[in-house]
Amino acid sequence: MRIVAAAGELRDALAPARREARTIGLVPTMGALHEGHSSLLRAASAECDVAVMSLFVNPAQFGPGEDLARYPRDRERDAALAADAGVDLVYAPAAEEVYPAGFSTTVEVGGLTDVLCGDPNRRGRGHFRGVTTIVAKLLNLVEPDVAYFGQKDAQQAVVIKRMATDLDYGARIAVLPTVREPDGLAMSSRNAYLTPADRRRAPALHRALRAAADVAVPGAAARDALAAARAELSGAGIEPEYLEARDAEDLSPVEAFNGRPALIALAARLGDARLIDNVVVGATTDPGGQENR
Ligand code: PAF
Repeated sequence: MRIVAAAGELRDALAPARREARTIGLVPTMGALHEGHSSLLRAASAECDVAVMSLFVNPAQFGPGEDLARYPRDRERDAALAADAGVDLVYAPAAEEVYPAGFSTTVEVGGLTDVLCGDPNRRGRGHFRGVTTIVAKLLNLVEPDVAYFGQKDAQQAVVIKRMATDLDYGARIAVLPTVREPDGLAMSSRNAYLTPADRRRAPALHRALRAAADVAVPGAAARDALAAARAELSGAGIEPEYLEARDAEDLSPVEAFNGRPALIALAARLGDARLIDNVVVGATTDPGGQENR
């Protein structure tokens, strides 16, 4: 496995694969790898001739007061896990490489970024502008056949799919199932911020989503499913930042389930950790978008 830090080195390293028409898979990450990332890396390595991982804690997607400074960083451990998962090439640039002096272009997806995690009263759409700008740069540099993302960040996946379609990226955007701890907690680099007491409460998020999914049969009202989730959360003393049912493709609000894929998504703050999780209910043509229970 080779590690490069400059865009030019990355392009040079990929040139032979491109000449020989070998397929390229890209897994964008911010490091602090866990089994969720490893599942994406293994898929890229199994499905593509060349597996590329980017490793960059992207300052543009952190708001003021968010956890940029303390975001977990361990390059050696990340490199070892990437190598284990079959990655061929790691792109680990410095911030000045990605955003040199004078950098002033951003990529923004409208509408889809105004809700859930992008609600201006919560994190704000600046978060997604940061995500789509870095992912656009990575897609331009790597020109992958497939780019891999996790279903845990469901809204991010929807936004990136929209961007890839709107801007004519050739890459297929693959969204793979959330990987969970044995007690149901979705794996996340931010789980490292949980105190032992909050770690014990955290599986209530997944229990809440499962309770909602049990109610969310075709014809059921979204408010009833959300009430079931809210009851589970309040039993664990958790007040969600948001808990909503939305169309899984366009994120429009869902009032009643009708068999179309619907996303039941929540965010909650447990101490210093802001956690998100979701479940997809209803028919889906994308097995990667289905909940793995
Ligand atoms: O999901 C993440 O880790 C980040 O948002 C991503 C896609 C790597 C962009 O920085």
